[in-house]
Amino acid sequence: MLVGLETSEDAGVYRLDDDTALVQTLDVITPIVDDPVDFGYIAATNALSDVYAMGGIPLTALTFLAFESCILPVEGASMILEGASAALKEASCAMLGGHTLEDPEIKFGLSVTGIVHPGRIVTNSGAVARDLIYLTKPLGTGIASTAIKGEMFPVELQADFVEGMKASNGPASAVMTKAGVTSATDVTGFGLLGHLREMCKGANLGAVLDLASIPLIPGIPGLVDMGLIPAGAYRNRDHLAEYVEAKGIPEEKLFPLFDPQTSGGLLMAVNPHHAGDLERLMAEARIPLWRIGMFGEGEKIIIEN
Ligand code: CO
Ligand code: CO
Repeated sequence: MLVGLETSEDAGVYRLDDDTALVQTLDVITPIVDDPVDFGYIAATNALSDVYAMGGIPLTALTFLAFESCILPVEGASMILEGASAALKEASCAMLGGHTLEDPEIKFGLSVTGIVHPGRIVTNSGAVARDLIYLTKPLGTGIASTAIKGEMFPVELQADFVEGMKASNGPASAVMTKAGVTSATDVTGFGLLGHLREMCKGANLGAVLDLASIPLIPGIPGLVDMGLIPAGAYRNRDHLAEYVEAKGIPEEKLFPLFDPQTSGGLLMAVNPHHAGDLERLMAEARIPLWRIGMFGEGEKIIIEN
């Protein structure tokens, strides 16, 4: 076993031989959008992301679907699987099978298996002080889906929101392994600050973030002002209270940083000397990229206005 449970990694890694290790992960989510095909696609993209975050290449997947036919008709269930198949096909990942069970609350997820070279695993604990911090997707999916459930999210902004969650982290992962990234993870349930805290903890570091450079999905600040904040964002905030310092910054500006993300972007650490390469390669591959801060000494994440 090369990567196990101890550092809250995105996936486990198991060495097969000198050149190949297995990367394995399991991710299950509840519906975040109304369209079942989109939901399946997003769940698969979200599960694949944990393999990509470790620099791996996904090969096979198994699905897990919980539903009750009086709540979700069988056609709806097959549409979820159809969406997942499309995302897996896009990733050249084979769907080998799966399991369904009866449950009044719809849940769908996948276990994805990939491979990585044992010497090229990207962990969430490899950052060093002065490494720059980059993010590949804007924040706010938890806030947006809360607003959609309350029919408060502007219809004209919904397509962008869904497309963002459907966007694969595969291309960014391929670039990151070329550009000498020292550490990475994907931003999901613990929010930007929760996942950054894991990177800091694993590397015994703190970080400084520049609030103005952190990207948000269009419409998010207005939804926060309306109080459309998911319970998970409050939980993340409370868990991280002792590690986050944001003097003079109003609370509502911090909620998107605590917001639980579904199929969020890659969060990466890179040596300043390699930052130019990363920026150039990402731009060539047309992958959005934001530089949001820097790792440093200590254990706090300091947010500057
Ligand atoms: Co992850
Ligand atoms: Co995960």
